[in-house]
Amino acid sequence: MDSLQDWPEPVVRVQSLAESGLSVIPNRYIKPPSDQPSLQTSKNNQQGIPVIDLSSLMDDVAGCRATIQAVSAACREWGFFQVVNHGVSMELMERVKETWRTFFRQPMNVKQAYANSPKTYEGYGSRLGVEKGAILDWGDYYFLNLMPASVRSHERHWPSQPPSLRGITNEYEKEVAKLCQTLMKVLSISLGLDVDYMQNAFGGAGGAGECLRVNYYPKCPQPDLTLGLSAHSDPGGMTVLLADHRVGGLQVRKGDAWVTVQPLPGALVINIGDQIQVLSNSVFRSVEHRVLANSAYERISLALFYNPRSDLPLGPAKELVTPERPSLYRPMTFDEYRVYIRKNGPRGKTQVESLKAQ
Ligand code: OGA
Ligand code: NI
Repeated sequence: MDSLQDWPEPVVRVQSLAESGLSVIPNRYIKPPSDQPSLQTSKNNQQGIPVIDLSSLMDDVAGCRATIQAVSAACREWGFFQVVNHGVSMELMERVKETWRTFFRQPMNVKQAYANSPKTYEGYGSRLGVEKGAILDWGDYYFLNLMPASVRSHERHWPSQPPSLRGITNEYEKEVAKLCQTLMKVLSISLGLDVDYMQNAFGGAGGAGECLRVNYYPKCPQPDLTLGLSAHSDPGGMTVLLADHRVGGLQVRKGDAWVTVQPLPGALVINIGDQIQVLSNSVFRSVEHRVLANSAYERISLALFYNPRSDLPLGPAKELVTPERPSLYRPMTFDEYRVYIRKNGPRGKTQVESLKAQ
């Protein structure tokens, strides 16, 4: 894929722009009016995404009907929910966030040593997509492949500073992976599939893919004109987002409005990605979300993407294909699937919807 070899124009770090003290953002970041947050319906004071207490799941997955029911309803109605008592240590959540904040606070020349390319996206990045002249988002990020071991990002892609970063990130990955494996069982049961169906479809416990995207959204002098991250659905299976409960910004589409997510202290935000929409033959749906820019505070979030093993073709479960509900998607590997977002950048739900026409 030649177009994915390099960025189409010089990369500008949003952090550098923000720290240069400009009061007007460059045109490259100004969204068309239809995407500007100030001109759209936002629902802030209505009920947000569901909050689900997972404590009953930790011992016996089969025994906790009410929790499974709550997850199932959240996946059907929202595609998003928050979990508390999820088994990931709060202390570790704080530490991994602070460690990555320390990384982004280093001088630019230190971070530039990890500058990424669209070939694998691993490393320090400032755009998604390679379309020349595209309108860009107000955020930088760091991307790593964590699992399976065979595709784990090479040593040279991992920041060497702060020295604790790798160990803490690995510890966090292990705990989140356990949570994901539990949720995969819950989702399988919710769909009426065998309890291990989804995990097996993802390549088994050690075979599933895990990538980490640490998002860094610098302060923005004109947050009404741009977005920290444009509307998109996540291409993978399921996302576990660790976001700051003090600085909001994430919004989820609900009908024609955007609902602001207010994470509870210690909570993790879970959302369904396109691969689970495909596997469930559209019973569960990946939902569009976006991130607002903020003039007063910078914001950090860690998105851990739990994905199918990238070389396994994945299609709708045959149990969910009936004469009344024929298969909506043809099987495809995740490697094939994610080329689209890597080339075109975040574009709402256009990718998964486009599959249906075929
Ligand atoms: C993402 C994402 C949301 C956030 O990285 O895919 O949607 O709040 N992040 O940073
Ligand atoms: Ni996302």
